[in-house]
Amino acid sequence: MSTATVTPDLTESSSVLSASTVFYFLLIPAVLLWYAYWYISRRHMLELAEKIPGPKGYPIIGNALEFLGTSPQIFKNVYSKSYEFGTTVKLWAGPKLLIFLTDPRDVEIILSSHVHIDKAPEYRFFKPWLGDGLLISTGQKWRAHRKLIAPTFHLNVLKSFIDLFNANSREVVQKLKKEIGKEFDCHDYMSEATVEMLLETAMGVSKKTQDQSGYAYAKAVMEMCDILHLRHTKVWLRPDLIFNMTTYAKYQEKLLNTIHSLTRKVIKKKRADFDKGVRGSTAEVPEDAKTKNYEKNVSSKTVVEGLSYGQSAGLKDDLDVDEDVGEKKRMAFLDLMIEASQNGVVINDEEIKEQVDTIMFEGHDTTAAGSSFFLCMMGVHQHIQDKVIEELDGIFGDSDRPATFADTLEMKYLERCLMETLRMYPPVPIIARQINQDIKLGTLAMFIISMYRVSHFGHFYGVSRLF
Ligand code: HEM
Repeated sequence: MSTATVTPDLTESSSVLSASTVFYFLLIPAVLLWYAYWYISRRHMLELAEKIPGPKGYPIIGNALEFLGTSPQIFKNVYSKSYEFGTTVKLWAGPKLLIFLTDPRDVEIILSSHVHIDKAPEYRFFKPWLGDGLLISTGQKWRAHRKLIAPTFHLNVLKSFIDLFNANSREVVQKLKKEIGKEFDCHDYMSEATVEMLLETAMGVSKKTQDQSGYAYAKAVMEMCDILHLRHTKVWLRPDLIFNMTTYAKYQEKLLNTIHSLTRKVIKKKRADFDKGVRGSTAEVPEDAKTKNYEKNVSSKTVVEGLSYGQSAGLKDDLDVDEDVGEKKRMAFLDLMIEASQNGVVINDEEIKEQVDTIMFEGHDTTAAGSSFFLCMMGVHQHIQDKVIEELDGIFGDSDRPATFADTLEMKYLERCLMETLRMYPPVPIIARQINQDIKLGTLAMFIISMYRVSHFGHFYGVSRLF
C-alpha cells in the first residue's frame, strides 16, 4: 500500500526532473543562438557607431548614467556633449544607440527625407493622448492625413482668422493689465490665449460654448508633458506594465480625462453645427475687432504683393504647402475633417479625434511657449522693446484699431524679434527619428535632433544677432 503511494511520487519527480533538464538543455542553446543573431544583426551598426565620437560608456548600461537627474539637468548635460565631442555625438542608453545631430546640414538630410519619417519609439508615450495623430503616425496613414490637413493651415485660411486673432489678443491684453507692476508668469496667460484662439479658429467653435476654461486644458497639458518627460528620462517608468502600477498612471488618467473631454465636446459641437448646415467659425467677434471696418484706412497690400520677413528669407512653416488647393477647398481644419469624414473613407471618427487632440496640443503648446519667451525677451531687452513699439507706432499712430493682415507685413522688426526668440529658445527643443537603414552614419539607430543646439550652431548664427 505504502509502496503503491510512494512509487507514483518518485515517477512524477523523476519526470519533472527530466522535463526541466530538457528545458534547460534547450534553453541554453536558444539563448546563445538568440544572442548570436542579435549580435550579428547589430554588428554593422556597432562598427559604424565606433566611428562616431562620444563619451566612453560602461558595459551593459552604456552611457545611461548621463541620463540621471532632473529633465533640465539631463538636457544641460547631454547638450554640453556636443561642445566636447563635436557636431555628431553618440550615447548608448543601454543597448540603444542614440545619435545627437547638431549641424543644420546633417539635420536637413534627415528632415527632408521621404524615407526617414518614423518617429522614435519614445513617441509612443503620447499614444494614450494623441492616438495615431500626425505627430506619431508614419507610412501611408501619415502621408494621407498630412496631405489632407496641410491645406487647412494655408496662409489664406490663416488670413481669414485675423478678426478672431484681434479679438482674442485684446482679451489677453485686458487680462494682463491686472498684473501691471507685479511679478507673474506670462506663460499662464499665453497658454490660455493660444488654446482659446485655436478653439475659435482651427476648431471653429466659440470658446464661450465650452464649459471648461482654456487654462484648465492648458494646465492639464503641461502636467501631462511633465509625466511624459519623466517616462523619457526614468528608465524604470518606460514599460507600461510598471508605469501602470504607479500613481503617475492614475494621475495621467485624470489629466487625459480633462484633455479629452474638451476635444470630445469640440467635435460634438462642430458636428451639430455641420448637421444644421453651419460652416466656418461660430465664434463672435466684437465690432471694434473687425478689420473690415478699418480697411479703408490701411494699406491694401495682399500676400502676393507683400512678403513678411520670414517669407522673403525663404522660411517655411511646418505645415506649409507649396500650392493653394483653390478657393473651394479652403476650409478651416475641423470643418474639413468633418466634411471629409462624411463617407468614412478618407478619415473616420476616431481618426478625427486623434488629429483634433494633436492639433490642439501642437498648435497651442508651441505658440504659447514662443509667445512667452518673446515677452520675456522684450522685458529683458528694453531697448529692443522700444524699437518694436516705435515700429508699431509708425503703423498705427494713435489709433486703437485692430491689426489687418497687411499691417502684419509691415512689422518687419517685430517679426525678426520673434524669429530670433524662436532661434534662441525653440519651443520644441528636441525631436527624434528612428532610422531603419544606412544614411552615411549608421543603421537602426535613433537620431535625436537638438533644435536648441541646432539653432545655436556657431558656424551659422554666431552669437545672438538681435538680443
Ligand atoms: C512657434 C510655433 C511652433 C513651433 C516651434 C512648432 C514646432 C514643431 C516641430 C519642431 C515639430 C516636429 C515634431 C517632431 O517631428 O517630433 C512640429 C510638428 C507639428 N506641428 Fe508644430 N510648431 C509650431 C506651431 C504649430 C501650430 C500652430 C500647429 C497647428 C495649429 C502645429 C502643428 C503641428 C503638427 C500637426 C505637427 C506634426 C506634424 C507631422 O509630424 O506631420 N504646430 N511642430
